[in-house]
Amino acid sequence: MTSPILGFSKKTKEEKIEWLIANYLDNDPAAKDTLTRYWNEDEKLQKLHDDFIENTLTNYYLPLGVAPNFLINDRLYALPMVIEESSVVAAASNAAKFWLERGGFKAKIISTEKNGQVHVNFFGSEEHIVQFFDVVKPKLIESIASIQKNMKQRGGGLKDIRLVVSTAQLPGYYQLHCTFETLDAMGANFINSCLESIAKCFEAEAANHSNFKATQQYPEVVLSILSNYVPECLVRVEVSCPVSALNQKDIDGKTFAEKFLRAVQIAEIEPRRAVTHNKGIMNGIDAVILATGNDFRAVEAGVHAYASKDGHYTSLTHATVENDEFRFWMEVPLALGTVGGLTALHPLVRLVLRVLQNPNAKELMQVVAVAGLAQNFAAIRSLVTTGIQKGHMKMHLMNILNQMEATSEEKEKTVHHFKDHAATHSAVVDFVSALRA
Ligand code: MEV
Repeated sequence: MTSPILGFSKKTKEEKIEWLIANYLDNDPAAKDTLTRYWNEDEKLQKLHDDFIENTLTNYYLPLGVAPNFLINDRLYALPMVIEESSVVAAASNAAKFWLERGGFKAKIISTEKNGQVHVNFFGSEEHIVQFFDVVKPKLIESIASIQKNMKQRGGGLKDIRLVVSTAQLPGYYQLHCTFETLDAMGANFINSCLESIAKCFEAEAANHSNFKATQQYPEVVLSILSNYVPECLVRVEVSCPVSALNQKDIDGKTFAEKFLRAVQIAEIEPRRAVTHNKGIMNGIDAVILATGNDFRAVEAGVHAYASKDGHYTSLTHATVENDEFRFWMEVPLALGTVGGLTALHPLVRLVLRVLQNPNAKELMQVVAVAGLAQNFAAIRSLVTTGIQKGHMKMHLMNILNQMEATSEEKEKTVHHFKDHAATHSAVVDFVSALRA
């Protein structure tokens, strides 16, 4: 039985490792080796990574790959992708090549507004709080003058504050709904600092407001935080071509377009399919987001909420054929940054941004959304033709071989054998076991 530990954060990294091994890893001597083997030998670099989070023990590697040949708004990109799943980078590369030969991807920013709320309790008269808000609004804006000075100079900052009355949904519940332009920053710290300052000013002013004093009913701030739901920070990406240009080796363009549209329609009406369909989109989106040091959980949360904005969860992508023109598109909310956060700190993130030709936030939104659309195109293309397992298991083969600690010779023989055999997990295990017998 382990017992709780106090002051863990104060221990050194080595002490934390010792404690973990003693308490949770049966004093396994190999555990320390596994943890320390991933330390970077450059101590300064390791320290940088140690300081990203708390209680760091070691580094957890994910592969950083690249998918070339993405033609986006007539500019060629190689997309850096960080992901643990095999086939994703290959699928992105295939989709990029496919559309490179058909005019490439078109991307357009629709809007870049972010938002956050001060959530307020108030059980007095609605009229009193509405009147108070009108009076206090300039002071709320003034309260963030120093926080938003630089942002404003660059053309961003707070756009507006509205009082939202939500008492019909939850008695006594109001919001100060604040909208922001944060330019090339994702803006989480900026927005949260503004909101906390607005909240403080709001409560302080309320304490002296005559109507509240007279009734002894004061508004009370519950919490203040940005929203990761950003439907007003939206990018649209699209591919299109004549149906005849969809002709491929084993399928004619018309049949392909029909099957493709049907797959999208199913995802539009059936949430069980839509979730997996959208998961495939997030394979592309998250991989580029991780590579660029952005917050993929924020994006995931916002994107899935957006997928249910009309009251039921649906496909993020849509497709049509009109006048023999195939069109496939997606609108997706993405709050991203190319300055601040990890972008200047993490050497690999800096390098990735250089590979992407130092995009501003709008350009990055376009690139990331394209990665999502491309991934979905590749997935549907496989699903409605060969199925995904053929390609997937080929890629997965190497993972299985590495798990089995196969030698180079075993790998060579196995890869050769599975060129024309279905590479299921058990078939690979059986084959390698037979080699070893
Ligand atoms: C696997 O990571 C993603 C897919 O399941 C997406 C899809 O089904 O559309 C292939």
